[in-house]
Amino acid sequence: MKAVILVGGFGTRLRPLTVTTPKQMLPVVDRPMIEYVVSTLKRGGVSEVTLALGYKEDLFRAAYPDAVCDGVSLSYAVEPEPLDTAGAVRFAADAAGIDEPFLAVNGDVLTDVDVGSLWDRHRETGAQATIALTRVGDPSRYGVVPTDPRGKVLGFIEKPNRDEAPTNWVNAGVYVLEPEILGRIASGRRVSIEREVFPSLVAEKGLWAVKSEAYWIDIGTPSTYVQAQLDLIDGVRGAAMAGIAADARVDEDAEVERSVVMEGAAVAAGAVARDSIIMEGAVIERDALVDGSVIGPGARIGEGAKVTGLSIVGDRVSVGAGLLVDGSKIPSSA
Ligand code: GTP
Repeated sequence: MKAVILVGGFGTRLRPLTVTTPKQMLPVVDRPMIEYVVSTLKRGGVSEVTLALGYKEDLFRAAYPDAVCDGVSLSYAVEPEPLDTAGAVRFAADAAGIDEPFLAVNGDVLTDVDVGSLWDRHRETGAQATIALTRVGDPSRYGVVPTDPRGKVLGFIEKPNRDEAPTNWVNAGVYVLEPEILGRIASGRRVSIEREVFPSLVAEKGLWAVKSEAYWIDIGTPSTYVQAQLDLIDGVRGAAMAGIAADARVDEDAEVERSVVMEGAAVAAGAVARDSIIMEGAVIERDALVDGSVIGPGARIGEGAKVTGLSIVGDRVSVGAGLLVDGSKIPSSA
């Protein structure tokens, strides 16, 4: 099976972290986000992946110089300009010479959705496209997808008002597509798969869906970037992963509670890190507090400073001793 992974977005909601690193190259506990996505596809039987690249594409090439990720062979399709979700799928599939049914996935979804059974269902129904659905509490941020009892899609409503959503089952960002669909996507301009392609397939009764109760999180926001990592160390998604990297330096008088401390990071005596992500090489000085926040790579939190309330401190930024940062992104201009 072949797959296209969309990884060309600007990741604006995760700024300032995405100013230097594209979203899918941001680390999630111990490896870049993209590696979890590739692993999920590999488990479902995918052996060749094309990355639909745009923003900071060179960092992907540099990370996988032999074009192999988790044993799956990679190819790269770099858009001359952002073509949006459907435009990017077409561009990448054309570049890879795909002429058979294939998978397309959003690169910022961490999930255990069984892509193999999605594929099987697609073959059974003869659909033009089959999408995985996941159930969420608040569907208003997503593409809401009502179906009939067999899974035929009855509507595709992108980001409706909460009280207008007919169901809590939403687009999980994992699709099987027939190659014929590619010809219907205009080339060379932005085309949205959610706003243009899927609604037109619904009108032709060609879109089917499979509901999945498997783990799923859209990791594109600060709160979900933190949550996805806490889920991994809490063991919500399989065996619990270690939160503190082997070469991180956590003083014996520091308190690290339900947090990720990545490679080369340091937490000094008297400092507290709680429900937080301390990225590579970041330093938390004495008596500082980091609570429910993200400290970017190489950043430094000065003695006695407090970083709380889903703050994000960018790459190599210093927060001075004793300062209070609450619910902010620094630098705020990013
Ligand atoms: P925000 O700016 O925070 O909304 O993030 P984003 O740019 O990643 O957008 P969004 O989360 O809506 O994108 C969903 C997926 O599609 C992500 O994996 C993006 O990398 C990808 N994506 C979005 N637009 C494009 C595009 O124009 N080209 C390519 N290749 N990928 C895209």
